[in-house]
Amino acid sequence: MRAPGRVNLIGEHTDYSEGLALPCAIDRDTLVLAAPRGDRRVRACSLEQERGAELDLDALARRGEWGDYVAGAAFALEAAGHRLAGAELLVTSRVPLGAGLSSSAALGVAAALVLSRLAGHALTPRAIAEAAHAGESGFVGVGCGILDPFASALGRRDHALFIDCRDRSVELAPLGAGRVALLVAHSGVTRSLAGAGYRERVAECARAFAAARAAGIAAPGARTLRDLGPAQLPALAAALEPVLFRRARHVIGENARVVAFRAAVAAGALADAGALLRETQASLRDDYAVSVPELDRLCALGDAAPGCHGSRLTGAGFGGCTLHLVDPAAADEVARTLRAGFLASHGRQPEVWLVRPADGASVA
Ligand code: GLA
Repeated sequence: MRAPGRVNLIGEHTDYSEGLALPCAIDRDTLVLAAPRGDRRVRACSLEQERGAELDLDALARRGEWGDYVAGAAFALEAAGHRLAGAELLVTSRVPLGAGLSSSAALGVAAALVLSRLAGHALTPRAIAEAAHAGESGFVGVGCGILDPFASALGRRDHALFIDCRDRSVELAPLGAGRVALLVAHSGVTRSLAGAGYRERVAECARAFAAARAAGIAAPGARTLRDLGPAQLPALAAALEPVLFRRARHVIGENARVVAFRAAVAAGALADAGALLRETQASLRDDYAVSVPELDRLCALGDAAPGCHGSRLTGAGFGGCTLHLVDPAAADEVARTLRAGFLASHGRQPEVWLVRPADGASVA
Protein backbone atom coordinates (compact mmCIF):
# COMPACT_ATOMS: atom_id res chain seq x y z
CA MET A 1 0.00 0.00 0.00
CA ARG A 2 1.20 3.51 -0.68
CA ALA A 3 -0.01 6.98 0.31
CA PRO A 4 1.65 10.13 -1.02
CA GLY A 5 2.65 13.38 0.63
CA ARG A 6 1.20 16.59 -0.72
CA VAL A 7 2.14 20.07 -1.72
CA ASN A 8 -0.45 22.78 -1.37
CA LEU A 9 -0.37 25.10 -4.38
CA ILE A 10 -2.55 27.80 -2.85
CA GLY A 11 -5.25 28.09 -0.20
CA GLU A 12 -3.08 28.06 2.92
CA HIS A 13 -4.58 28.18 6.39
CA THR A 14 -8.09 28.22 4.95
CA ASP A 15 -9.20 24.65 5.57
CA TYR A 16 -10.10 25.02 9.25
CA SER A 17 -12.20 28.05 8.37
CA GLU A 18 -14.13 25.90 5.87
CA GLY A 19 -12.49 27.72 2.97
CA LEU A 20 -10.93 26.74 -0.36
CA ALA A 21 -7.63 25.04 -1.14
CA LEU A 22 -5.78 23.67 -4.17
CA PRO A 23 -3.28 20.95 -3.20
CA CYS A 24 -1.87 18.05 -5.16
CA ALA A 25 -0.52 14.70 -4.05
CA ILE A 26 3.16 14.30 -4.94
CA ASP A 27 5.33 11.48 -6.22
CA ARG A 28 6.80 10.78 -2.79
CA ASP A 29 5.06 8.09 -0.81
CA THR A 30 4.79 6.38 2.50
CA LEU A 31 4.80 2.64 1.88
CA VAL A 32 3.35 -0.02 4.17
CA LEU A 33 3.83 -3.76 3.93
CA ALA A 34 1.30 -5.70 5.96
CA ALA A 35 0.56 -9.21 7.20
CA PRO A 36 -2.55 -10.23 9.12
CA ARG A 37 -2.46 -11.52 12.70
CA GLY A 38 -4.99 -13.71 14.37
CA ASP A 39 -5.67 -11.32 17.23
CA ARG A 40 -6.50 -7.62 17.80
CA ARG A 41 -2.95 -6.32 18.16
CA VAL A 42 -1.19 -4.12 15.63
CA ARG A 43 2.59 -4.06 15.65
CA ALA A 44 4.25 -1.48 13.45
CA CYS A 45 7.89 -0.74 12.80
CA SER A 46 9.38 1.90 10.57
CA LEU A 47 12.67 1.95 8.70
CA GLU A 48 12.99 5.62 9.70
CA GLN A 49 12.12 5.38 13.40
CA GLU A 50 14.11 3.70 16.13
CA ARG A 51 11.13 2.64 18.19
CA GLY A 52 8.33 0.47 16.95
CA ALA A 53 4.72 0.82 17.99
CA GLU A 54 2.38 -1.76 19.45
CA LEU A 55 -1.35 -1.16 19.67
CA ASP A 56 -4.21 -3.04 21.17
CA LEU A 57 -7.31 -2.38 19.05
CA ASP A 58 -9.44 -2.85 22.16
CA ALA A 59 -7.54 -0.25 24.18
CA LEU A 60 -6.25 2.39 21.79
CA ALA A 61 -4.45 5.20 23.56
CA ARG A 62 -2.36 8.17 22.54
CA ARG A 63 1.30 7.83 23.46
CA GLY A 64 2.97 10.85 21.89
CA GLU A 65 4.73 8.65 19.30
CA TRP A 66 4.60 8.20 15.54
CA GLY A 67 2.43 5.13 16.07
CA ASP A 68 -0.35 7.50 17.22
CA TYR A 69 -1.15 8.17 13.56
CA VAL A 70 -1.73 4.45 13.04
CA ALA A 71 -3.74 4.26 16.26
CA GLY A 72 -5.74 7.36 15.26
CA ALA A 73 -6.67 5.85 11.89
CA ALA A 74 -7.67 2.60 13.60
CA PHE A 75 -9.71 4.45 16.21
CA ALA A 76 -11.57 6.47 13.57
CA LEU A 77 -12.28 3.43 11.40
CA GLU A 78 -13.71 1.47 14.31
CA ALA A 79 -15.71 4.49 15.45
CA ALA A 80 -17.20 4.61 11.93
CA GLY A 81 -18.30 0.98 12.34
CA HIS A 82 -15.51 -0.82 10.47
CA ARG A 83 -14.24 -3.54 12.77
CA LEU A 84 -10.54 -4.18 12.26
CA ALA A 85 -8.18 -7.11 12.76
CA GLY A 86 -4.64 -7.26 14.10
CA ALA A 87 -1.68 -6.79 11.77
CA GLU A 88 2.09 -6.63 11.44
CA LEU A 89 3.10 -3.45 9.59
CA LEU A 90 6.40 -2.38 8.10
CA VAL A 91 6.47 1.32 7.22
CA THR A 92 8.93 3.36 5.21
CA SER A 93 8.56 6.87 3.89
CA ARG A 94 10.02 8.82 0.99
CA VAL A 95 8.06 11.88 2.15
CA PRO A 96 10.62 13.99 4.01
CA LEU A 97 9.67 14.09 7.69
CA GLY A 98 8.84 17.43 9.28
CA ALA A 99 9.18 19.31 5.99
CA GLY A 100 5.57 20.43 5.65
CA LEU A 101 4.84 17.88 2.92
CA SER A 102 2.38 15.95 5.09
CA SER A 103 4.37 12.91 6.04
CA SER A 104 1.94 12.49 8.94
CA ALA A 105 -1.17 12.55 6.75
CA ALA A 106 0.52 10.09 4.37
CA LEU A 107 1.08 7.75 7.33
CA GLY A 108 -2.51 8.15 8.53
CA VAL A 109 -3.95 7.54 5.07
CA ALA A 110 -1.67 4.55 4.47
CA ALA A 111 -2.62 3.10 7.86
CA ALA A 112 -6.34 3.60 7.25
CA LEU A 113 -6.05 1.95 3.85
CA VAL A 114 -4.01 -1.02 5.00
CA LEU A 115 -6.00 -1.74 8.18
CA SER A 116 -9.36 -1.48 6.41
CA ARG A 117 -8.23 -3.72 3.54
CA LEU A 118 -6.77 -6.36 5.85
CA ALA A 119 -10.12 -6.52 7.63
CA GLY A 120 -11.93 -6.94 4.31
CA HIS A 121 -13.46 -3.46 4.01
CA ALA A 122 -13.21 -1.86 0.56
CA LEU A 123 -13.66 1.79 1.55
CA THR A 124 -13.74 4.69 -0.87
CA PRO A 125 -10.74 7.06 -1.01
CA ARG A 126 -12.97 9.68 0.60
CA ALA A 127 -13.82 7.39 3.54
CA ILE A 128 -10.09 6.68 3.94
CA ALA A 129 -9.38 10.43 3.93
CA GLU A 130 -12.12 11.08 6.49
CA ALA A 131 -10.76 8.36 8.78
CA ALA A 132 -7.20 9.68 8.52
CA HIS A 133 -8.45 13.19 9.23
CA ALA A 134 -10.52 12.14 12.22
CA GLY A 135 -7.51 10.21 13.52
CA GLU A 136 -5.03 13.07 13.18
CA SER A 137 -7.35 15.86 14.17
CA GLY A 138 -9.31 14.19 16.97
CA PHE A 139 -7.30 11.23 18.28
CA VAL A 140 -3.77 12.57 17.85
CA GLY A 141 -5.17 15.99 18.71
CA VAL A 142 -3.52 18.14 16.08
CA GLY A 143 -6.78 19.96 15.38
CA CYS A 144 -5.90 20.29 11.68
CA GLY A 145 -8.24 20.63 8.70
CA ILE A 146 -8.97 18.18 5.89
CA LEU A 147 -6.42 19.48 3.38
CA ASP A 148 -3.65 16.93 3.86
CA PRO A 149 -5.50 13.61 4.07
CA PHE A 150 -7.83 14.62 1.21
CA ALA A 151 -4.84 15.41 -1.00
CA SER A 152 -3.09 12.17 -0.06
CA ALA A 153 -6.15 9.96 -0.60
CA LEU A 154 -7.82 11.67 -3.57
CA GLY A 155 -4.88 13.03 -5.61
CA ARG A 156 -4.74 12.54 -9.37
CA ARG A 157 -1.66 12.45 -11.59
CA ASP A 158 -0.97 15.82 -13.25
CA HIS A 159 -3.91 17.44 -11.46
CA ALA A 160 -4.49 19.59 -8.45
CA LEU A 161 -7.60 19.18 -6.30
CA PHE A 162 -9.94 22.10 -5.84
CA ILE A 163 -11.29 21.40 -2.37
CA ASP A 164 -14.19 23.23 -0.82
CA CYS A 165 -13.60 22.52 2.86
CA ARG A 166 -17.17 23.44 3.78
CA ASP A 167 -19.08 20.85 1.77
CA ARG A 168 -15.92 18.75 1.25
CA SER A 169 -16.46 18.62 -2.50
CA VAL A 170 -13.40 17.95 -4.62
CA GLU A 171 -12.95 18.90 -8.29
CA LEU A 172 -9.98 17.94 -10.43
CA ALA A 173 -8.02 20.90 -11.76
CA PRO A 174 -5.62 19.98 -14.62
CA LEU A 175 -2.16 21.36 -14.02
CA GLY A 176 -0.93 21.76 -17.55
CA ALA A 177 1.61 18.93 -17.54
CA GLY A 178 4.58 19.95 -19.65
CA ARG A 179 3.86 23.66 -19.26
CA VAL A 180 4.60 24.04 -15.56
CA ALA A 181 6.80 22.29 -13.09
CA LEU A 182 6.78 22.38 -9.30
CA LEU A 183 9.97 22.83 -7.34
CA VAL A 184 9.99 22.37 -3.59
CA ALA A 185 12.87 23.64 -1.47
CA HIS A 186 13.37 22.64 2.15
CA SER A 187 14.54 25.50 4.34
CA GLY A 188 16.00 23.01 6.81
CA VAL A 189 14.13 24.82 9.57
CA THR A 190 12.35 22.14 11.55
CA ARG A 191 8.86 23.03 12.52
CA SER A 192 9.29 22.60 16.26
CA LEU A 193 7.06 25.57 17.06
CA ALA A 194 4.52 24.53 14.47
CA GLY A 195 2.17 22.78 16.90
CA ALA A 196 1.70 25.73 19.24
CA GLY A 197 1.71 28.33 16.45
CA TYR A 198 -0.77 26.32 14.42
CA ARG A 199 -3.21 25.94 17.29
CA GLU A 200 -2.89 29.65 17.99
CA ARG A 201 -3.87 30.50 14.39
CA VAL A 202 -6.84 28.13 14.53
CA ALA A 203 -7.99 29.84 17.75
CA GLU A 204 -7.41 33.32 16.31
CA CYS A 205 -9.60 32.56 13.30
CA ALA A 206 -12.39 31.42 15.60
CA ARG A 207 -12.00 34.56 17.70
CA ALA A 208 -11.91 36.81 14.64
CA PHE A 209 -15.14 35.31 13.39
CA ALA A 210 -16.80 35.53 16.81
CA ALA A 211 -15.85 39.21 17.03
CA ALA A 212 -17.20 39.85 13.53
CA ARG A 213 -20.47 38.22 14.49
CA ALA A 214 -20.68 40.14 17.75
CA ALA A 215 -20.16 43.37 15.77
CA GLY A 216 -23.02 42.44 13.46
CA ILE A 217 -20.72 42.10 10.42
CA ALA A 218 -21.42 38.45 9.65
CA ALA A 219 -24.75 37.60 8.01
CA PRO A 220 -27.26 35.46 9.92
CA GLY A 221 -26.34 31.81 9.50
CA ALA A 222 -22.66 32.57 8.95
CA ARG A 223 -20.37 30.02 10.61
CA THR A 224 -16.74 30.84 9.92
CA LEU A 225 -14.45 33.37 8.23
CA ARG A 226 -15.41 31.60 5.01
CA ASP A 227 -18.68 33.53 5.15
CA LEU A 228 -16.97 36.94 5.02
CA GLY A 229 -15.77 38.64 1.84
CA PRO A 230 -13.60 41.54 0.69
CA ALA A 231 -16.56 43.96 0.94
CA GLN A 232 -16.57 43.48 4.71
CA LEU A 233 -12.90 44.34 5.23
CA PRO A 234 -13.46 48.01 6.13
CA ALA A 235 -16.03 47.06 8.78
CA LEU A 236 -13.74 44.33 10.08
CA ALA A 237 -10.83 46.77 10.28
CA ALA A 238 -12.93 49.03 12.48
CA ALA A 239 -14.34 46.28 14.72
CA LEU A 240 -11.54 43.74 15.24
CA GLU A 241 -8.35 44.06 17.24
CA PRO A 242 -5.47 44.51 14.75
CA VAL A 243 -4.01 41.01 14.99
CA LEU A 244 -7.40 39.37 14.48
CA PHE A 245 -8.13 41.71 11.57
CA ARG A 246 -4.90 40.66 9.86
CA ARG A 247 -5.69 36.97 10.33
CA ALA A 248 -9.18 37.49 8.88
CA ARG A 249 -7.80 39.51 5.96
CA HIS A 250 -5.46 36.65 5.08
CA VAL A 251 -8.23 34.06 5.05
CA ILE A 252 -10.63 36.26 3.06
CA GLY A 253 -7.97 37.16 0.49
CA GLU A 254 -6.67 33.61 0.28
CA ASN A 255 -10.06 32.11 -0.58
CA ALA A 256 -10.34 34.60 -3.46
CA ARG A 257 -6.80 33.82 -4.61
CA VAL A 258 -7.57 30.08 -4.85
CA VAL A 259 -10.37 30.77 -7.32
CA ALA A 260 -8.22 33.23 -9.30
CA PHE A 261 -5.22 30.88 -9.36
CA ARG A 262 -7.25 27.98 -10.64
CA ALA A 263 -8.67 30.15 -13.43
CA ALA A 264 -5.24 31.53 -14.31
CA VAL A 265 -3.70 28.07 -14.63
CA ALA A 266 -6.65 26.82 -16.68
CA ALA A 267 -6.19 29.79 -19.04
CA GLY A 268 -2.44 29.22 -19.27
CA ALA A 269 -1.85 32.63 -17.65
CA LEU A 270 1.13 31.46 -15.64
CA ALA A 271 2.49 34.94 -14.91
CA ASP A 272 -0.84 35.75 -13.25
CA ALA A 273 -0.76 32.47 -11.33
CA GLY A 274 2.77 33.28 -10.16
CA ALA A 275 1.73 36.76 -9.03
CA LEU A 276 -0.99 35.17 -6.89
CA LEU A 277 1.59 32.91 -5.23
CA ARG A 278 3.67 35.97 -4.39
CA GLU A 279 0.59 37.69 -2.94
CA THR A 280 -0.08 34.63 -0.80
CA GLN A 281 3.49 34.65 0.49
CA ALA A 282 3.22 38.33 1.43
CA SER A 283 -0.07 37.65 3.19
CA LEU A 284 1.31 34.62 5.07
CA ARG A 285 4.33 36.67 6.11
CA ASP A 286 2.67 39.96 7.04
CA ASP A 287 -0.92 39.15 7.98
CA TYR A 288 -0.77 35.55 9.11
CA ALA A 289 2.78 35.67 10.55
CA VAL A 290 3.71 32.07 9.74
CA SER A 291 6.78 32.66 7.58
CA VAL A 292 10.38 32.70 8.82
CA PRO A 293 13.40 34.50 7.29
CA GLU A 294 14.69 31.32 5.64
CA LEU A 295 11.39 30.83 3.80
CA ASP A 296 11.29 34.50 2.80
CA ARG A 297 14.84 34.17 1.46
CA LEU A 298 14.04 31.09 -0.65
CA CYS A 299 10.97 32.86 -2.06
CA ALA A 300 12.99 35.97 -2.92
CA LEU A 301 15.64 33.84 -4.63
CA GLY A 302 12.99 32.00 -6.62
CA ASP A 303 11.10 35.11 -7.60
CA ALA A 304 14.28 36.70 -8.96
CA ALA A 305 15.21 33.63 -11.03
CA PRO A 306 14.39 33.61 -14.78
CA GLY A 307 11.71 31.01 -15.53
CA CYS A 308 10.17 31.09 -12.03
CA HIS A 309 6.59 32.39 -12.15
CA GLY A 310 6.15 32.75 -8.40
CA SER A 311 7.08 31.33 -5.01
CA ARG A 312 5.62 30.95 -1.56
CA LEU A 313 5.91 28.86 1.56
CA THR A 314 3.75 25.75 1.44
CA GLY A 315 2.07 23.97 4.33
CA ALA A 316 1.58 25.38 7.79
CA GLY A 317 4.79 27.47 7.76
CA PHE A 318 7.05 28.17 10.77
CA GLY A 319 9.72 26.34 8.74
CA GLY A 320 9.50 23.53 6.22
CA CYS A 321 9.34 24.11 2.47
CA THR A 322 8.79 26.67 -0.23
CA LEU A 323 7.00 25.98 -3.51
CA HIS A 324 8.13 27.48 -6.81
CA LEU A 325 5.99 27.39 -9.96
CA VAL A 326 8.50 27.18 -12.79
CA ASP A 327 8.87 26.76 -16.50
CA PRO A 328 9.94 23.08 -16.94
CA ALA A 329 12.88 24.10 -19.14
CA ALA A 330 14.17 26.37 -16.38
CA ALA A 331 13.65 23.99 -13.45
CA ASP A 332 17.28 22.86 -13.14
CA GLU A 333 18.58 26.40 -13.32
CA VAL A 334 16.06 27.69 -10.74
CA ALA A 335 17.03 24.80 -8.43
CA ARG A 336 20.72 25.74 -8.81
CA THR A 337 19.91 29.38 -8.05
CA LEU A 338 18.03 28.41 -4.89
CA ARG A 339 20.88 26.20 -3.66
CA ALA A 340 23.64 28.68 -4.43
CA GLY A 341 21.80 31.73 -3.12
CA PHE A 342 20.79 30.06 0.13
CA LEU A 343 24.30 28.68 0.60
CA ALA A 344 25.67 32.20 0.23
CA SER A 345 23.31 33.71 2.78
CA HIS A 346 22.80 30.83 5.23
CA GLY A 347 25.91 28.70 4.87
CA ARG A 348 24.11 25.53 3.88
CA GLN A 349 22.43 24.10 0.78
CA PRO A 350 18.71 23.53 0.90
CA GLU A 351 17.37 20.30 -0.50
CA VAL A 352 15.40 21.04 -3.68
CA TRP A 353 13.07 18.55 -5.27
CA LEU A 354 11.15 18.55 -8.53
CA VAL A 355 7.78 17.08 -7.58
CA ARG A 356 5.09 15.79 -9.89
CA PRO A 357 1.36 15.73 -9.08
CA ALA A 358 0.60 12.07 -8.42
CA ASP A 359 -2.29 9.69 -7.86
CA GLY A 360 -3.66 9.36 -4.37
CA ALA A 361 -3.21 6.37 -2.08
CA SER A 362 -3.49 2.91 -3.62
CA VAL A 363 -3.13 -0.73 -2.73
CA ALA A 364 -0.40 -1.59 -5.24
C1 GLA B 1 -1.20 21.89 7.97
C2 GLA B 1 -2.54 21.29 8.36
C3 GLA B 1 -3.58 21.52 7.27
C4 GLA B 1 -3.65 22.99 6.87
C5 GLA B 1 -2.25 23.53 6.60
C6 GLA B 1 -2.25 25.02 6.37
O1 GLA B 1 -0.66 21.21 6.87
O2 GLA B 1 -2.40 19.91 8.59
O3 GLA B 1 -4.84 21.06 7.70
O4 GLA B 1 -4.31 23.75 7.84
O5 GLA B 1 -1.35 23.27 7.67
O6 GLA B 1 -2.93 25.34 5.19
